[in-house]
Order: sequence, then structure tokens, then C-alpha cells
Amino acid sequence: MPIEAFQKCIDPSCGLEYPIREVRIECERGHLLDVRYKSTPSTSLKEVFYKRRNHANNIFNESGVWRFRELLNFCEIDTESIEDCSKFLVSLDGAEGRLSKPYHMSKVSDYVGVQNLWLQPEGYNPSGSFKDNGMTTAVTHAKLVNIKKIICASTGNTSASAAMYAANENMECDVYIPAGEVAPGKLGQAFQFGAQVIEIKGNFDDALSTSLKRAGEGGGYTVNSVNPFRIEGQKTIVFRALESLDWNAPDWIVYPGGALGNTSSCGKSLMELYEWGWIKKIPRIAVVNSEGANTLYTLYNGKFEGVEVRWNNGKPDTDIINRYYKFMDSNGIKPKTKATAIQIAKPANIVKGLRALDFTDGVVTQVSDGDMLDGMALVGLNGFDCEMASGAVPAGIRKLMQEGVIKKDDTVVGILTGRQKDSSIPVEYHKNPKNRFAHPPKS
Ligand code: F0G
Repeated sequence: MPIEAFQKCIDPSCGLEYPIREVRIECERGHLLDVRYKSTPSTSLKEVFYKRRNHANNIFNESGVWRFRELLNFCEIDTESIEDCSKFLVSLDGAEGRLSKPYHMSKVSDYVGVQNLWLQPEGYNPSGSFKDNGMTTAVTHAKLVNIKKIICASTGNTSASAAMYAANENMECDVYIPAGEVAPGKLGQAFQFGAQVIEIKGNFDDALSTSLKRAGEGGGYTVNSVNPFRIEGQKTIVFRALESLDWNAPDWIVYPGGALGNTSSCGKSLMELYEWGWIKKIPRIAVVNSEGANTLYTLYNGKFEGVEVRWNNGKPDTDIINRYYKFMDSNGIKPKTKATAIQIAKPANIVKGLRALDFTDGVVTQVSDGDMLDGMALVGLNGFDCEMASGAVPAGIRKLMQEGVIKKDDTVVGILTGRQKDSSIPVEYHKNPKNRFAHPPKS
């Protein structure tokens, strides 16, 4: 059956369509785009994906992203042909997603009060965060359309991942970062992988608007999560979690919330899997904002002008979203959290994020910096590494459990999005005996 992939506007009443090879991040009416497929993949592929784990040196089976290539076949290739795979698919030698699966971490389970808790570290990707899942697909699309230079704005991890794939594919890479607001390890990676770093005075939102403007002027191909091909790769985070649960959907999937690319991709993967009959139940998404960068929390929960902003079948109240952005600008309200990865005030994927929350009957909560640090430290005490933004996941699950939203017998999958790239954070945490899980040094 022909695959017939295309791009389509996410607003059902707009629905403009574009060919796969067209480079754009919005339809001409300014709405975000999805990659769509006309075919319905057979559920017998579940077995094929599982068998590919025994990869026999085929890097496209070894890759935790391309192992699921039939579900993101926007290159419209023969997925069994190694020649086609090698010609079209970008991979860091099969490393992206390879080490990712959910683990039971008993100390975290006890702390949050949920025993059926599965935490999936995405920090063990080659560049150290979940971004590689989507970067490998965005750069595959860039290669498909003969791009020589990619461009992004970043709080750090996106730039590390983009720079790594660009280096490996001999592409140029410009990264726009908020000066002084990026973890040193992430900045180091951008330099190490040969990217051109452009420091912007301001925050991530300023860096993103500058980079999108430059891209529009011909300055490069945007690989931020507003690129629909990024979202395709990030769907595999959910595929791996579900595969591990034998495709029995959990009750909850929990992410930290920044620009909402993850939330969007989780929503899209669940919409597709449900429509294709691969899952019978729809897990609920919980997004965890930092208290210091809580736009989604504020708007979704009616904390601004008393209106709970919703997807509303593709017509969310964008006026209220824009009024809130203006309110923040005119009152000098800037996102501020020590978890700089999610220090974002204007989530670029907010409309797609609302769609995901609508489809999954999702919730949005917020946690303090202290809660995130405790979450991060406790993951560490189970022998797993994660950064502070990922600590939002155990912290958020605990809070939702205490509020009675998550029930103690629920099955919960939490995504630990990135690895520690600022060693001063755990060092400071553990040196202070007042911290809940501190293990201070002796002299
Ligand atoms: N966790 C980590 C470790 C991140 O780096 C990010 C985003 C998020 C969570 C939030 O994910 O944007 O999909 O909601 N980092 C981006 C960057 C913005 O530039 O590296 P999201």
C-alpha cells in the first residue's frame, strides 16, 4: 500500500495540505502543521519492532527511533531495504533512543506514593537528552530537501543535539541561546560539535523569535519543535514506553513542560495509535510546569482572567493567550527558574499542546525549584542520572497523587527528559544538609 505522507494544518476547519518536501513550520494562515499518513500500519508490526531489538548490526534496527520506522515513514521508503534506509535516514550510528526504556525506581515510587511507576531516562541519548529522538527525524527531513544549514533557538539541549547531528551530516548549524541562561555542559556541547553560537540578550522566547526570523530570511532550516518532523521522532518515546508495557496503555504519561514539543508529540502518537487500533485505552497526559515558568499551568487552569483555555476543536482562545503574553511583557514578568531547560514563557507549541491535553483529558500542574531538586536527587539515589527539569516529573507525580488526581494504584510512566549537564547543581544540593535527600560531604 502506498504510504502517502503529507503535511496538514492542525486546525480542522483550515486543513491546508502541503507536500512532504515543502519546508514550512506553519500553514499560510499561521497554524502549526502535522505530518500525516494515509495508510494504517498493521498491528503485526509490534512483533517486527520487538524483533529488531536483536539488531544484527543494522543501525536502523538498533536505533530506538528508526526501529519504529513504519510509523514515521515520511520519506516514503521501503523500510526493509537497508539501501533505502542508509540513503534517507539520518542516525548517529543507531545510538538515538537505543538505551531508552522505562525502569522501576523503588525509592522514587516510595516517595511519590505510586508503586506502578515507570521512569524512562531519555538522558542516555547520545547528546544527553530526549531531543535526539526528534532531531534525527528533523535532520532526515533537512537532508531530504537538500539543506546545508540548520538553525535553532535553545535553552541548551536542542542546540547540543542539533550541533551533534549537523556535525555528523556535514551541515552547518547556528544556535541562538539566551546569554548566561544555559547550563555549561550544554553550551560546551554546542561548541564541541562546531556550531556557531549566537548569544541573545534576553530569554529563550527572544532567542526563538530571532532565530525564526533569521530562518525566514533564508538563514537556515529550523529544527526547533515547531518543525513537524521533530515531533515525528519524539513519538518514539511513547512507542518505547508502550512496547515495554506490552502495548497496554498506562493511566498516565508525565512530562515536564517547556515549549511543549513533548506534550504535542505524545498527543499525536496516542491519537494515531488509538485511531489505528494499536491501543484500546487513552492514557492521560500530565504536564508539569516550573512555578517560575508556568504559562500553560496559568492558562489551562483559568488563573488568568478566570478562563480555562482549551483546544476547542482547533479554535482555542488565542486572544486570551496573546493578552497573557502582553500582560507578562508589560509587567516585566520573565520566566525564572533554576531549571533553565524549561525557563520558557511563551510555549511555541501551545496550540498543539492543548490538542494533546484535550485528546487525553490531561492535567497541568506546577512545582517549585526545591521540589524539582528533590525529584532530581532521588532519581540519582536510584542510580539514574537526570537534570533538574526532569526532576519536575517525580515532583509533579507526587503533587498530583497528594491531590488525589493520580491514584495510588494507577500505572504511571514519567519521562526523565535529560541528563545532568551542570554539575554545580547536585554538588550544591548535596552540600546543603537542609535539603531533603542531601548526602553532605565529610571532612
Ligand atoms: N526537559 C529538558 C531536559 C529540556 O531540555 C526541555 C526543553 C524540556 C524538558 C521541555 O520540553 O519543550 O518539549 O516541553 N528544552 C528545549 C531546548 C526548549 O532548547 O533544549 P518541551
